[in-house]
Amino acid sequence: MEDLPFSQASENNKGPILAVLRQHLGDTGSLLEIGAGTGQHAEHMAGRFPGLCWQTSDTAANLSILRPRVSRAGLPAPIAVDVNAADWNCGRFEAVFCANMLHIIAATSVENFFLGLGPHLLPGGLLLVYGPFRYRNAYTSPSNARFDHWLRQRDPLSGIRDFEWVNRLAEDAALALVEDHAMPANNQLLVWKKSPGN
Ligand SMILES: C[S@@+](CC[C@H](N)C(=O)[O-])C[C@H]1O[C@@H](n2cnc3c(N)ncnc32)[C@H](O)[C@@H]1O
Repeated sequence: MEDLPFSQASENNKGPILAVLRQHLGDTGSLLEIGAGTGQHAEHMAGRFPGLCWQTSDTAANLSILRPRVSRAGLPAPIAVDVNAADWNCGRFEAVFCANMLHIIAATSVENFFLGLGPHLLPGGLLLVYGPFRYRNAYTSPSNARFDHWLRQRDPLSGIRDFEWVNRLAEDAALALVEDHAMPANNQLLVWKKSPGN
């Protein structure tokens, strides 16, 4: 058995995430995964959509972690996308997927994520974001409150984001919320659709 980079959290949530993605994604077109980490989500999900071109990405510094599993899965080589870059320098996609990133990066980077996304998500395309969120200034569980405390102690710029704030950033980027799926372990999978005119 190869000893590839591994995330237990990814292993636990890949099944439930796939079940929701199946409700929204067709089997054609292309998807950009941002912050793909170890590549476990891509490895598990891309094969379930054989007609969809699944393009993984992460920061240049993380590509050596991502590459082995993506290569084993026979997917296109990962590309470097840093959401803080002025130009993401990638193509245009029917869908963008991102898991467990908005609470890891700084709030300014979350803003950059929504600003930078625009040129790369086709009109009518979908943005699918998985992770924990707060609603009406409250955590969805005591464990999320503890997780947020731990995150902020580790990195004061990180932290669980308020859904209302994130949704405003999305609306400013011409994205309308389609669905908010409650997921296991007090996470959400938020799905937005880009206006067909943008
Ligand atoms: C907690 S990991 C999640 C990995 C994977 N999506 C998952 O759910 O297992 C956060 C990921 O975001 C990536 N990341 C952090 N800052 C980033 C940035 N500025 N632009 C793009 N990706 C970033 C990290 O390299 C890492 O792969």
